[in-house]
Amino acid sequence: MLQTAPIPNNLEAFWMPFSANRQFKKAPRILARAEGMHYWSHDGREILDGTAGLWCVNAGHGRPEIAEAVKAQLLELDYAPAFQMGHPKVFELAARLAAIAPQGLDHVFFTNSGSESVDTALKIALAYHRVKGEGSRSRLIGRERGYHGVNFGGISVGGIVANRKHFGMMLAGVDHIRHTHDPAKNAFTRGVPEHGAELADDLERLAILHDPSTIAALIVEPVAGSTGVLIPPKGYLEKLRAICDKHGILLIFDEVITGFGRLGTPFAADWFGVAPDIMTTAKGVTNGVVPMGAVFVKSDIYEAFMNGPEHLIEFFHGYTYSGNPAASAAGLAVLDVYQREGLLTRGAELAKHWEDALHSLKGLPHVVDIRNIGLVGAIELEPIAGEPAKRAFSAFVKAYEAGILIRVTGDIIALSPPLIIEEKQIDQLIETLAGVIKSLD
Ligand SMILES: Cc1ncc(COP(=O)(O)O)c(C=O)c1O
Repeated sequence: MLQTAPIPNNLEAFWMPFSANRQFKKAPRILARAEGMHYWSHDGREILDGTAGLWCVNAGHGRPEIAEAVKAQLLELDYAPAFQMGHPKVFELAARLAAIAPQGLDHVFFTNSGSESVDTALKIALAYHRVKGEGSRSRLIGRERGYHGVNFGGISVGGIVANRKHFGMMLAGVDHIRHTHDPAKNAFTRGVPEHGAELADDLERLAILHDPSTIAALIVEPVAGSTGVLIPPKGYLEKLRAICDKHGILLIFDEVITGFGRLGTPFAADWFGVAPDIMTTAKGVTNGVVPMGAVFVKSDIYEAFMNGPEHLIEFFHGYTYSGNPAASAAGLAVLDVYQREGLLTRGAELAKHWEDALHSLKGLPHVVDIRNIGLVGAIELEPIAGEPAKRAFSAFVKAYEAGILIRVTGDIIALSPPLIIEEKQIDQLIETLAGVIKSLD
């Protein structure tokens, strides 16, 4: 099989998403092929995937079972209208997803991305209160440093400054609780940090400030990923759950990154033993190969909409490609792989080796914190004075040259390999990264 690819003559036309376009186009990183744990660069170099693509290729690359299922589906039924019509696989997929979801999340609404899942979840929350006769609950609460995609709902409840500052006022009536990152108390914690559960009381404070009767939902990532892997302190999510229950606020877990085995349990809700009312997912639902997202909701939320004349649409929301046949076929094939290979819990078996390997980087130059949970890890670097994000970006470029794919956000290196990784590949990833970190200015 071809292991190389030409660098395209015209790199200008494509405006790359979330990318340093000018830097990239001067020194392109073009991927030619992928299989198992590896990519191959345009010039044929093997690159160990330390990030499951973008946190999505949980079952590893180039799985023939998935490719064949998608091909067969395209030949059998390429497209079916998503509104007022159906096809068998979308129902089958929803039922199989509901069967592995945390208890009570029995209904699934399909989208095409994490961003769409988030905006769908926020709309469900607002509409739910309205159909229940509590239309005054129109306020949404997010968290500082939260990432919930890039649509207007998601950036409104999100808390990453760079993703918000250029886009005006966004949704009205949104407030934020504080983030939980406290390196002064929790640096180099292995697993769940000890300090900070009381930060959940911010929700209580906002409930008092705005009055609970104005608040529809709180959305948080159980483990914040894109902002650099912020792991919730012991007892924090339980507290959020209790405050939501006390005030009739829906709790939305954004599991776009943590869903489908990333922590060593099918969902983060399982790991923490805290069940949300609504759960957003995407990425791992199709192993990243066909865009798809899935929003899980509790039965009483779904049932609240099933009212009025039966010929009328109950929820005015959906996408042309909601649950499209190719994505549904991919989702079913992916679930087969996850289940056959035990991938939704494999992270738990590897977590200790992963943790030890990551924490072996303690003491290297510039490393100010290391955190881990399941098969996720972060190494926080001291920023270069006056040049934030430059040191980690340099690590990213050097890592690619050294044969590993890592992800950086600000001055934090985030790692989330495919769940098929072997222990010796974990060692290779971390040893190569150690060399990269030692070489940084
Ligand atoms: C927690 C979370 N929510 C939403 C999104 C957005 O997903 P997408 O890029 O598929 O729109 C992401 C993407 O990384 C995410 O991590």
